[in-house]
Amino acid sequence: MGIAEAKKLYIETLGCAMNVRDSEHIIAELGDKENYVLTNNLQEADLILVNTCSVREKPVSKLFSEIGKYNLQKKEGAKIGVCGCTASHLGKEIFRRAPYVSFVIGARNVSKISTAVNTEKFLSVDTDYDESTYAFGEYRNSLYKAYVNISIGCDKKCTYCIVPQTRGDEISIPADLIVNEARKAAQNGAKEIFLLGQNVNNYGRRFSGNVERSMDFSDLLNLISEIPEVERIRFTSPHPLHMDDKFLETFANNPKVCKSMHMPLQSGSTHILEQMKRGYSKEWFLNRALKLREMIPDVSISTDIIVAFPGESEADFDDTLDVIRQVKFEQIFAFKYSPRPLTKAAEFTNQIDAEIGSARLERLQLLQDEILDEIAAKHLNKTYPVYIDELRNSGFLAGRSDNNALVQIKGDESLLGQTVNIKVTNPKRLSLYGEIVL
Ligand code: SAH
Ligand code: SF4
Ligand code: F3S
Repeated sequence: MGIAEAKKLYIETLGCAMNVRDSEHIIAELGDKENYVLTNNLQEADLILVNTCSVREKPVSKLFSEIGKYNLQKKEGAKIGVCGCTASHLGKEIFRRAPYVSFVIGARNVSKISTAVNTEKFLSVDTDYDESTYAFGEYRNSLYKAYVNISIGCDKKCTYCIVPQTRGDEISIPADLIVNEARKAAQNGAKEIFLLGQNVNNYGRRFSGNVERSMDFSDLLNLISEIPEVERIRFTSPHPLHMDDKFLETFANNPKVCKSMHMPLQSGSTHILEQMKRGYSKEWFLNRALKLREMIPDVSISTDIIVAFPGESEADFDDTLDVIRQVKFEQIFAFKYSPRPLTKAAEFTNQIDAEIGSARLERLQLLQDEILDEIAAKHLNKTYPVYIDELRNSGFLAGRSDNNALVQIKGDESLLGQTVNIKVTNPKRLSLYGEIVL
């Protein structure tokens, strides 16, 4: 008897880096246990998976339009499965709206993927399920950088956010598992380790089975930096509330920790921050961000902003613009507030008109474009070490400076995985173009 021909898996990943990592785990599990290989061709797939996001309404409607289309295009007998955050929050409602779906597995149930593909109609959306000590097979999208989970779930209850309902309570993954995974990835060539969690700098609060360990995020950063093959460490998302001095000092002083910080502001108005239950004020945020700029002159700071949260007045919005003017973020991910099921803010009676939200978003973006032009101009003729990790379809090689600026050059593929000095000759808002200098 010959070896059974591999089955083909087509997977689409929506949402954040955590979903990207979950998809890698799914690909590894299906490859190791069920003999699946990846395909980019929908029509030859035996299994079509969508790993979904619920954070705003848009990715949820995208799920239904995508699977509707896939159902018409798929080959005879191919299965469609839905996993991730929308699977968690809609559960069996997905079978009702799309009866051709074979299984629905939540963001915290990735380890059940094998059972799911072998069961007629399978549903598993348990958000208490403990996957913190999991051991999945090896699969990574990139040879050069590796995502490593350090916690699952989220204990915060920001009033706009559905994530705690889709990923459950926060559990930190034991440090020895994290270090082993980082070491393995780095020894395989991934010199950059990207740590993932919803609140990374709250690491160590609770471990699986309530095991007592005294370890915080700063300790974890230092531990990972002791792995000789690890050259760069990045992480997302830290929470501004937990940016104490110890954390800022570890960030500033550990040379392997890249000097780019994500500081999700959400709103610059203390009143709105209270309504969001973020736990910090405008002043605290400004104090932390400006202290970082003072400690590390080259630091880059990115942020997330929600405009038109219920009750946001012109004065509240002006506070957000004021923080943007003072901090001058290198990158802003700004979105209009989207009411989410299962959240407190969706019940608030002072929702803002969509047109007001769009107009505010536009004003924010105009201001940010000015700031980005100012920042881009400062890069002209500067030289940065850049870790080249991607060959783009455009033919450009791309990589990041230590402080996370995207830098692109024309060059040979053999530079992939190497750190080279690049002089910026053409700085644009979203990417710096340059040439190699020796
Ligand atoms: N744990 C991370 C955020 C995860 S969600 C943190 O606390 O920063 C990613 C981003 O989506 C959030 O930072 C927020 O800006 C945005 N977001 C979450 N819920 C939203 C909603 N209901 N409407 C619009 N944007 C939202
Ligand atoms: Fe959502 Fe807040 Fe948790 Fe971030 S910290 S995932 S915004 S509840
Ligand atoms: Fe990520 Fe979206 Fe879930 S942002 S945590 S995939 S809701």
